[in-house]
Parts: sequence; structure tokens; C-alpha cells
Amino acid sequence: MFFSGRFSELILLIVNLMRLLEVYSKLLEILRASEFISDPNLEVERLLTALLNISREQLFLKLRSFELPDEVYLHLLEMAERRASGYPLDYLIGYTYFRNLKLRVKEGVFIPRPETEFLVDLALKVIRDSFHEKQLRVLDVGTGTGCIALAIKKELGDKVEVLALDVSERALRVARDNAISLGLEVRFIEGDVFEIWKKLVRQGRFHLIVSNPPYVSPDWYESHKELWFEPREAFVYKSGPDFYLELSKISHELLIERGVMCLELGFEYQDLVVDAFNERGFEEIDWVEFNGYKVATCLRYIGELKTSRG
Ligand SMILES: C[S@@+](CC[C@H](N)C(=O)[O-])C[C@H]1O[C@@H](n2cnc3c(N)ncnc32)[C@H](O)[C@@H]1O
Repeated sequence: MFFSGRFSELILLIVNLMRLLEVYSKLLEILRASEFISDPNLEVERLLTALLNISREQLFLKLRSFELPDEVYLHLLEMAERRASGYPLDYLIGYTYFRNLKLRVKEGVFIPRPETEFLVDLALKVIRDSFHEKQLRVLDVGTGTGCIALAIKKELGDKVEVLALDVSERALRVARDNAISLGLEVRFIEGDVFEIWKKLVRQGRFHLIVSNPPYVSPDWYESHKELWFEPREAFVYKSGPDFYLELSKISHELLIERGVMCLELGFEYQDLVVDAFNERGFEEIDWVEFNGYKVATCLRYIGELKTSRG
């Protein structure tokens, strides 16, 4: 009896493992055929674990009770086909991870990118190095899912009052949901920063502004069709660098004396951004490079107008 029980359990495990491998290979085959996917194995794992609502480890630990009803299997295949057509995986599964935060994402809202974590790390470093006040005010311009604002609030807690604004009502709804589910207090404001900045100043200036703005040129956006599933206004503002240029003109009004502006940088406009802020009385105090490019920079307002960098 004992051996036959163990034996049937082993058979069950083998049958379930074969089924899992069969499903895995089918999904892999679909994703491998796609021009949009660079790591199909990782994406199959994310699809499977999200749909079955278990972790990667549990997938194998719970093999004994692994079940995949036909309708779930068909749904998985549909999702894989959709993903293979370029539709973002994070929209399909409804969430993504940013630093240590699990964030809801939704169609119509920009999906946080891993490189933006460099910007958050840099802003946090500058805050810790530069400001010793008990209470700081931070503004996140173009908050999207709220990833930057929420990551900063999570790290600094009561020490910081975080305001986050976006022109997209849809983005703000997702950002507010994320703040609630993470239990983090951030104030969200809807509006175009270039229209509402004076109203913001009247409520108090900021120690630090952080932004991952729309910064790609229209041509770049048009030639990268994998981006077309996300809102164009999250990527493109006017002819390309204009968001930075317009922001450079109002930033000193929004900041306290010696306040700091931290920006994610598009590779097309690295020098241009620093030059524009230099000309408005800012000096670069810290930055991050990755793969040979400067990906984020922080500039302090020192109030002296410069005409060239250095
Ligand atoms: C590149 S996304 C960044 C989103 C988020 N901060 C992140 O890093 O994932 C730029 C965001 O800026 C917002 N945006 C675009 N133009 C804006 C404007 N004039 N005023 C305020 N927000 C704007 C877009 O709606 C979008 O959510």
C-alpha cells in the first residue's frame, strides 16, 4: 500500500510536470516567433505565474496539485498571441514592479521602465546629501502610475511631503489606486504643469522636483511601433526636447533657494538639457551613467545665469 501510494503520487507528479512543460513550450514557441520580445523565457514565466496567481517557486512546489483547465489554457494562449503582436505584457497581466513596489498598470497609462529606478536612486541620494531640514517638499512632474512619487514616499516616510501631478486623468486614477493599495500618502494633482505651476508656487515651493518627462522626438516614436500601445503624450511633447526647455524656464520659481531639479534624460538630448538649465542658473551636482549614456541628472539652482556649460 505504502509503495503503491508513493508510486501513484510519483506518476501524478510526472504527468503534471509533462503538462506544465507542454504548456511552457507552447507559450515559448508563440513568444519566440515575435520580433518584440527579447527574453521569451522570462515572459512565459511572468504570464504563467500571473495567470495562475502563484510565484515561480510555487509553480514547481505545487506541481502535485497543478491543474490547468482548458479555458485557462486557451486564455493563456490568447494572451501569448496578443503579447507576440507587441501588446505590453504589463498591460496583459495588469501590474508591474518598480523598485520594491508592485504597481497596477492600465492601458492609456505609461508603463514604468527599469531605467527610471536610476533617477529615483539619484534623487534619494541627493535628498539625503543635500537637505537636512526635518520636513521636505518634493514634486513629481508627470507622475504616470505614481512610481517615482510613491518610491520616494516609501523610502522617506513622514520626512517628506510628496505632490505628484499629471495632465492625464487616467494616469492619476491609477496612481491614486496605487497609493491606496500601498498605504502611502501622496497628494495628486491633475493639470498641465505649464498651466498650473503658478498655483503650485502659491501653495509653497519645493526642495526637489523630480521628473521623467515626455522626451522622445516624434520621429523616434513613429519609428518604434512597440511604443504605440502606450499614450503618445507620455513619450512626445511638441518637437522632442521642449518639455525640458519649458521646464527649465519655470523651475527656479517652483524651487526653494538652492533647490534641486532631478531629471531622467533621453539619449537624444543629454547636453542640451544640462545646457538649458545652466543658462537658467542651475549647476549639475550629480548624475548617473548607464551603458555609456547619462540617464539621469540633478541640478541645483544657484541663481547665477551662465551662458555655457562648465
Ligand atoms: C514618460 S511618462 C513618465 C511617467 C512616470 N513618471 C514614470 O516614470 O513611469 C510622462 C508623463 O508625463 C505626463 N505629461 C505629459 N505632458 C504633461 C504636462 N504638460 N503636464 C503634466 N504631465 C504631463 C504624461 O501623461 C505621462 O504620464
